[in-house]
Amino acid sequence: MTFWLSMRIPVNFALIILQHVEVPVPTPKQDEVLLKLEAASINPADWKMQKFPLRYLFPRNFIPCTDVAGEVVEVGSGVKNFKAGDKVVAYLRQFGGGGLGEFAVAKERLTVPRPPEVSAAEGAGLPIAGLTAHIALTQSAGVKLDGSGPRKNILITAASGGVGQFAVQLAKLGNTHVTATCGARNMDFVKSLGADEILDYKTPEGSSLKSPSGQKYDVVIHCTTGIPWSTFKPNLSANGKVIDLSPSPGALMSSLLNKLTFSKKQLMPLLLAAKRENLDYLVKLVKEGTLKTVIDSKYPLSKAEDAWAKSIDGHATGKIIVEP
Ligand SMILES: NC(=O)c1ccc[n+]([C@@H]2O[C@H](COP(=O)([O-])OP(=O)(O)OC[C@H]3O[C@@H](n4cnc5c(N)ncnc54)[C@H](OP(=O)(O)O)[C@@H]3O)[C@@H](O)[C@H]2O)c1
Repeated sequence: MTFWLSMRIPVNFALIILQHVEVPVPTPKQDEVLLKLEAASINPADWKMQKFPLRYLFPRNFIPCTDVAGEVVEVGSGVKNFKAGDKVVAYLRQFGGGGLGEFAVAKERLTVPRPPEVSAAEGAGLPIAGLTAHIALTQSAGVKLDGSGPRKNILITAASGGVGQFAVQLAKLGNTHVTATCGARNMDFVKSLGADEILDYKTPEGSSLKSPSGQKYDVVIHCTTGIPWSTFKPNLSANGKVIDLSPSPGALMSSLLNKLTFSKKQLMPLLLAAKRENLDYLVKLVKEGTLKTVIDSKYPLSKAEDAWAKSIDGHATGKIIVEP
């Protein structure tokens, strides 16, 4: 089977290089299914975790990429819910990886059925990006996706990216007013996802994050980097909070300081804990047409390094997909 391995580069620690190799097809353990992959999607976490020094937490021959869709070809002895021939979506876990190959093993507990209405690419785009948007909105922000609950005024930064596109769509299932930031080229696109107001992040108004209609934000789902707490703070409502997906050391300091000073305005780092029931919920939303996986680009597995480079470049609109 063809795989892409992430290489340890002792000379230049900033380099993250993929090497194309042939390795044996993996064997599923008791609680695993073996998948013939039909699509994988790349997330920034895939390459961020391969940078020095985190790279050294992974095995030498590590195959990156965690978000996949495929067909079950073999099941472990303890697997109850799947059989050969089933189409599925799976999250392979950050330290498991395996998505940039022709076959991968997935834990049954992080695998869900994929109905025919959901393409492999749409399914593979869901795990990290969709689950992060979902958990940020439902658990951290307290938005109820059935539309009940008090109205919340929400800001979503980098709404054109993998997480942001899902965050806007899911937020609008709740009782929310959504302001979104993106680049000028994506403003119509983000509006089409349901955002009520849009800010171009390259303009002075956009970089100030001020709501065009003058509203203060109850919650910010912060999907980019480089915005200091001092920019968020004046734009927050009295109990407003920023849910930061990629907190910098400065943001972590601000978070700590806010806690120590009993500030009502909070900055909360978020780390995804993937749950099968949430992935199942997202697949069902895609099936019924309530949620869409917007795809930036598709690459064949033989060109996985181009997909990897595209993600590192940081300018995708939606998800980057690799297909064997
Ligand atoms: N904590 C967690 O568990 C967790 C989970 C998932 C993701 N994350 C993190 O969340 C971040 C977003 O992930 P992603 O998959 O959505 O990334 P992504 O798809 O690579 O985001 C790319 C998008 O961000 C836009 N963008 C870049 N800088 C921006 C800015 N200053 N303001 C507004 N938009 C901007 C780009 O627009 P232009 O092309 O116009 O610049 C592009 O459309 C990453 O840092 C990722 O590591 C964390």
